[in-house]
Amino acid sequence: MTNNQILTTKAEPDASSMIETFRAIGYSIETAIADIIDNSISAEAKNIWINYDWKGKKSIIKIKDDGYGMNHDELVQAMRPGSKHPLKVRSLKDLGRFGLGLKTASFSQTRKFSVISKKKDYNPVYWAWDLDHVNETKSWELIQFTPLVSEIKNLKEQESGTSVIWYCLDRILKNTKEEDTEALGKFMELMEGVKKHLEMVFHRFLEQRKIKIWFQDRKIEAWDPFLRGEKGIQICAEEFLGKGDIVVKGYILPHKSKISEQTFKKASGPKGWNEQQGFYIYRNERLLVAGNWLGMFRKEEHYKLCRIMIDLPNTVDDKWQIDIKKSIARPPIKVQTQLKAYAKDVRAHAVNVYRHKGRVLQRKYPSFKFTPVWVEKQRHGKRFYSINRKHPVISEIIEEPSKQNINELIKFIEETVPVPLITIKESEEPESHGIPFENIEHELLIQKMEKQLKRLVNSGKSKDEAKAILLSIEPFDKYPQYIESLTEKL
Ligand SMILES: Nc1ncnc2c1ncn2[C@@H]1O[C@H](COP(=O)(O)OP(=O)(O)OP(=O)(O)O)[C@@H](O)[C@H]1O
Ligand SMILES: [Mg+2]
Repeated sequence: MTNNQILTTKAEPDASSMIETFRAIGYSIETAIADIIDNSISAEAKNIWINYDWKGKKSIIKIKDDGYGMNHDELVQAMRPGSKHPLKVRSLKDLGRFGLGLKTASFSQTRKFSVISKKKDYNPVYWAWDLDHVNETKSWELIQFTPLVSEIKNLKEQESGTSVIWYCLDRILKNTKEEDTEALGKFMELMEGVKKHLEMVFHRFLEQRKIKIWFQDRKIEAWDPFLRGEKGIQICAEEFLGKGDIVVKGYILPHKSKISEQTFKKASGPKGWNEQQGFYIYRNERLLVAGNWLGMFRKEEHYKLCRIMIDLPNTVDDKWQIDIKKSIARPPIKVQTQLKAYAKDVRAHAVNVYRHKGRVLQRKYPSFKFTPVWVEKQRHGKRFYSINRKHPVISEIIEEPSKQNINELIKFIEETVPVPLITIKESEEPESHGIPFENIEHELLIQKMEKQLKRLVNSGKSKDEAKAILLSIEPFDKYPQYIESLTEKL
């Protein structure tokens, strides 16, 4: 065929291999169900019901809503992969972007799914994708089928709504028999995970009572990562990034000692306290990324109280590289720098709260200043730790040194190495820690090097050997430049 003198030929995708590719996008069951719920929210649903019926490999999961639904043509369009162009401008409340979620999320878990929908003043309509049918016919063809005929009647009683029914869950229940209790246990565990995930992902909708989600007919509660409303949380001033359309707000959760055991346990969230620290990225209030430092910092115990909310509108999807599964978002470089600076401040506060424990006693007797053995110091912009000569035990030993109390002194120093302080500082600003004897007179250092060198040579070592040994002794290893002149002097 020619078109403007250019020869063309059709190269349409092969239906069954294309669908297999959809299946490999990498959804988990919880991210897949969340993607279906996105559609319900975009369709202005007030209630979403998730129900499952255990029948081994014939189990069914149904996600139903009371949103505005679809008529026949709209449903057929909705079932098409790529039903809307990703660059098409969407309503500001729309949680969709790619025109794929319904299909990719469903196919990630099932070989067959049907959608029944009813639009106001229309009769319910239904269509299904059946991967076996696609394989047989080799064509992009829907079948008019639903495994739950009663659901058509149920929807008829609603003004409008949609029901997505997954009925061949081969990914999680391949060849599983109904009487397999172990598999049932695993399935229930999986479902519990889904529930927790939904409580987290949609918490802002649930809190604001925009929607209710019913899980096996029981209403689920919001899980707020920021413990808003709890006593003792610290909220940092929000900042507006990008073109002013990205809002960042840091939360420092209360120290364990300030909240009840139950609140502390609940706040640990689906992944646990340490894992849940980091940025929480929301797109139109829907959580995309939960607890991730986006490669800027490591997750560390002493930052576990720090959670930072980032609010994105759906107009920045492209710049933030939102993925099909709605589980990845990557800030543009400029925003990354701003976020890092903001997070550094919040993290510094969070560390202070984390260290709260040691300060409690101090605060009990506020008139007495804490006397540490080790103190942090700055020398020409570099960080060092020194021994507090005014510490009562240290000063006593300095005044009256003896063989025995030198050992006691060493013991005191060893036992009080400020490991938490050093670790925190090191991970915050690794480059600002000075090397030994940096930025001070080297007289003492050189004197000690010379003494050791002489001792080695006097004990029969050759000059080269003595030099090599000296270079393997801390902190002489940092100053090889002195060794040559010292050996020449010998
Ligand atoms: N529960 C629902 N109620 C009403 N309309 C729906 C529902 N689910 C899907 N749709 C319609 O089907 C279309 C396709 O949904 P699908 O999830 O495949 O893509 P999307 O939501 O547009 O984008 P994304 O791929 O980002 O999810 C939606 O845009 C919407 O018009
Ligand atoms: Mg969608």
